[in-house]
Amino acid sequence: MPRVAIVGATGAVGTEMRRQLALRDFPVEGDPLYLASERSAGTSLPWKDGEVEVQAISADAFSGVDIALFSAGGSRSKEWAPVAADAGAVVVDNSSAFRMDPDVPLVVSEVNPDAAAHRPKGIVANPNCTTMVLMVATKPLHDAFGLTEVVATSYQAAGGAGMSGITELLEQTAKLLAAGEETLRTDGAAAEGSVDAEVFSKAIALNVLAHCGSFADERYTDEEWKLLNESRKILSLPALRVSPTCVRVPVVVGHAIAGRLTFAEPVTREAALAALEGAPGLVVEDGTGQDGEPLAYPTPLASAGRDEVLVGRIREDLGDGHSLNVFVVGDNLLKGAALNAVQIAELIAAE
Ligand SMILES: NC(=O)c1ccc[n+]([C@@H]2O[C@H](COP(=O)([O-])OP(=O)(O)OC[C@H]3O[C@@H](n4cnc5c(N)ncnc54)[C@H](OP(=O)(O)O)[C@@H]3O)[C@@H](O)[C@H]2O)c1
Repeated sequence: MPRVAIVGATGAVGTEMRRQLALRDFPVEGDPLYLASERSAGTSLPWKDGEVEVQAISADAFSGVDIALFSAGGSRSKEWAPVAADAGAVVVDNSSAFRMDPDVPLVVSEVNPDAAAHRPKGIVANPNCTTMVLMVATKPLHDAFGLTEVVATSYQAAGGAGMSGITELLEQTAKLLAAGEETLRTDGAAAEGSVDAEVFSKAIALNVLAHCGSFADERYTDEEWKLLNESRKILSLPALRVSPTCVRVPVVVGHAIAGRLTFAEPVTREAALAALEGAPGLVVEDGTGQDGEPLAYPTPLASAGRDEVLVGRIREDLGDGHSLNVFVVGDNLLKGAALNAVQIAELIAAE
């Protein structure tokens, strides 16, 4: 059985990784190793019926480790993932540090699982959470109709920025609600300016921010570039056209994406439903509440804690017989991060 380390075990994603390893009965030799910063060293966190003490990350920590799940941010991965790989561990990295490295596979377990076996650097990358969620729903449609273009607008949860993002959302929400309905209705600028915004660039509570991540080339954010570059790599479609807009919304956990998908082949709603039926890791929730259909569409709140990606609002484009509009939702900490990382570890452990 593999000896397993979790780097970033105290974080939002690390917490879900610990839960997923236990829930899925991942075979672990002894107790897993919990690694984090000096700040958390000496604290204890649950593992099955007991607890494991957190250690500060160090080169010695990786001795004897077979699989290291990294979730402690890009700079920590850049520094420590090669150290862990040199010590003999296979690294599953949840940060953006290696995703576009041609010698590092970028794997969604339902989409391109075979890629995980070819890892010249001993590292497998876990995609960005928004891209991951979109890919699970897009792959079966791509297989059926041949994807050529994606126009995607994301609605990303505060929890996508870690524990501190969730805390900022909840604290700001309490403060703004205490300010009262009249202030919120008549002087929004004062309300927006009255809260401390540290994780996000403006008030995230009761608000919508057209700004996820950092601004980068061509006035797009790095989150938007990830959606473009990672989709191309995962689907092996280097010329795929992607128009991304990433938006942060006041949701604790659960990313949503409104996507217009264009295909080489003509597509109908019925053919799309047939292509999506039984797709791995995907649930269709799609009904208008009219003509005897139940009202059904996915929401981020109801996706929190669920393993599956949910897709609904499946509509033919009104002007283009080659395009579909869809609404895709998934738990950013589960399928968007920890669950997929553990699924990759399962692929590696089964080799
Ligand atoms: N949140 C999401 O939805 C999501 C989805 C996909 C990918 N990711 C990626 O996953 C990574 C972690 O995200 P998160 O949301 O879990 O963040 P988080 O809640 O802020 O947790 C960060 C983790 O990194 C550890 N850490 C920080 N500095 C460290 C250091 N110098 N040495 C060792 N460990 C250190 C922290 O340990 P301490 O507690 O000791 O500070 C904590 O365990 C990031 O790369 C993020 O981009 C996040």
